[in-house]
Amino acid sequence: MTQRIAEHNKDRDRQLAEIRKSLGSNSIVLIGLMGAGKTAVGRRLAACLDLPFTDADCEIEAAAGQSIKEIFAEHGEAYFRTGERKVIARLLENGPQVLATGGGAYMDPDTREAIKAHGTSIWLKANLRVLMKRVGRRDTRPLLQVDNPETVMKKLIAERNPIYARADITVESREVPHDVMVSNIVDALSAQLAGGDA
Ligand code: S3P
Repeated sequence: MTQRIAEHNKDRDRQLAEIRKSLGSNSIVLIGLMGAGKTAVGRRLAACLDLPFTDADCEIEAAAGQSIKEIFAEHGEAYFRTGERKVIARLLENGPQVLATGGGAYMDPDTREAIKAHGTSIWLKANLRVLMKRVGRRDTRPLLQVDNPETVMKKLIAERNPIYARADITVESREVPHDVMVSNIVDALSAQLAGGDA
């Protein structure tokens, strides 16, 4: 039994080392809607791969010296999107890393192109119920500070899912422990490598 666990661990270590090697200086870029788990899962994925973790929203806030809520309130969404595009382009130069992006980032054609050039994109795909349950916990997202956030989320799902679907890899984001999500992502990355597309 102990031997079987040791073998399993060795296989997993090999799998992780192969993923790291195949990345070179590219990044693993997590995309998907608010509440998909990009930050929580990304942080654990990075730890598992022994890579740095970067959260694009935090970097935007640091660059602006303001919270996202404040940026939206003072300057509007268009200004935020311009900053988001610039910051993500800069961050993508810092691979290898796991980079979590804000939900709207991948909608920008330039950002999509930069991600394609410098990384492997992973869409964390979650359904409306899961997303609403998760975003309900915080009031930091300006797009959802409305009377009926569920209507907004439904609209965003309809608009964005067809674009998110262009990601290199799609992983269902379910109500399972984060470690299970990480394991699913590692397997998906390995499968992609084995397919020779990485
Ligand atoms: C946004 C998602 C947010 C943040 C901003 C806009 C969006 O990031 O970038 O509030 O357009 O979906 P998270 O997806 O990390 O919540």
